[in-house]
Amino acid sequence: MKAAILNKTRSDLIVDEVTLPKELLFGQVLVKIKYSGICGSQINEIDAAKGVDKYLPHLLGHEGSGIVEKIGSGVSKVKIGDHVVLHWRPGSGIEAPPAKYLWRGRKLNSGRVTTFSEKSIVSENRLTVIPKNFNLREAPLFGCAIPTAFGVINNDAKVKIGQSVLIFGIGGVGLNIAQAAKMVSANPIIGVDVNKKKLNMGKKFGLTHDLLSGKNIKKKILNIVGFSGADVCIDTTGIPNVIETAYDLTHKDGKTILVGVPSKKIKIYSLPLHFKKILKGSHGGSAVPDLEIPRYINLIKRKKMSLKNLITHQFKLDQINSAIKLLRSGNSGRIIIKMS
Ligand SMILES: NC(=O)c1ccc[n+]([C@@H]2O[C@H](COP(=O)([O-])OP(=O)(O)OC[C@H]3O[C@@H](n4cnc5c(N)ncnc54)[C@H](O)[C@@H]3O)[C@@H](O)[C@H]2O)c1
Ligand SMILES: [Zn+2]
Repeated sequence: MKAAILNKTRSDLIVDEVTLPKELLFGQVLVKIKYSGICGSQINEIDAAKGVDKYLPHLLGHEGSGIVEKIGSGVSKVKIGDHVVLHWRPGSGIEAPPAKYLWRGRKLNSGRVTTFSEKSIVSENRLTVIPKNFNLREAPLFGCAIPTAFGVINNDAKVKIGQSVLIFGIGGVGLNIAQAAKMVSANPIIGVDVNKKKLNMGKKFGLTHDLLSGKNIKKKILNIVGFSGADVCIDTTGIPNVIETAYDLTHKDGKTILVGVPSKKIKIYSLPLHFKKILKGSHGGSAVPDLEIPRYINLIKRKKMSLKNLITHQFKLDQINSAIKLLRSGNSGRIIIKMS
């Protein structure tokens, strides 16, 4: 089967034939991937933002949809033919070891879930069954973008009706944070981005105010939320000075939530943390996939939530490097890879 491989940090992925192991181990599931999303986290992985990558060469991708083709011993959560979402946050079921693939005669590493391939061996607890009539092209968004964004609002920030929410970075995750903030009646919901197109999209997803990043941004925001700052400030950029600005603009009793992964240290005045101010890094919105994905599907069915217009581009697996280039340019919403 074909897969996209990260062989060297900060370089293009290699799309090539890969050999699957002959047998599935306890708790492993073979999934035929239909669609995969590309998250900002894969850009970080390619760039080794968290430090030297000791797993090279390896597979990647952490939000996808597909159909179960084969199950290993012990697996009871899914059966052959089920439609599934592949997600990186663990849910119920067995935590199986990552599969060992072969590429050009060498060992090829993977995590417990990877999605940039025609087939993938996934740990049972990284799968959630979805109804067969649910759109498989939109389902990858349940693997990361949606549960992270909705979880940031619901689980990490626990936003209350009428609280002010400020979001830096209106990309795949930021757009959905805006959508979730609107659903819990936050107000105002302010989005800041370097790209006007993103802000225009954000307005359709719930932003009450949109601001281009630049000079006087702090003053402009305080003019909207008042001098004490915003109740909840969320960073999805991972850029140190943006994180510092988000922290500074947070009310003394408010919360700063970090979603973007920084590659450098940040500098903050920590005294307010001794009182009521909270600074928290999000881990996938602390999402519980088994509980939350069915709720989102229900909301979509009842037209209370929408995934429409979140996906702006679709590529084939062979074109994945062009897709990554487009994501880096900032000129896309979520990009989907369609497997053949
Ligand atoms: N903590 C977690 O569990 C978790 C989960 C998912 C994603 N992430 C991280 O979140 C980040 C965002 O992911 P994404 O998929 O939304 O990426 P994305 O590329 O779609 O979005 C990033 C957005 O930030 C904007 N931006 C860039 N520089 C900016 C600046 N100086 N000021 C304001 N906006 C700026 C870009 O224009 C873009 O719209 C990534 O770092 C990713 O690794 C973390
Ligand atoms: Zn992600």
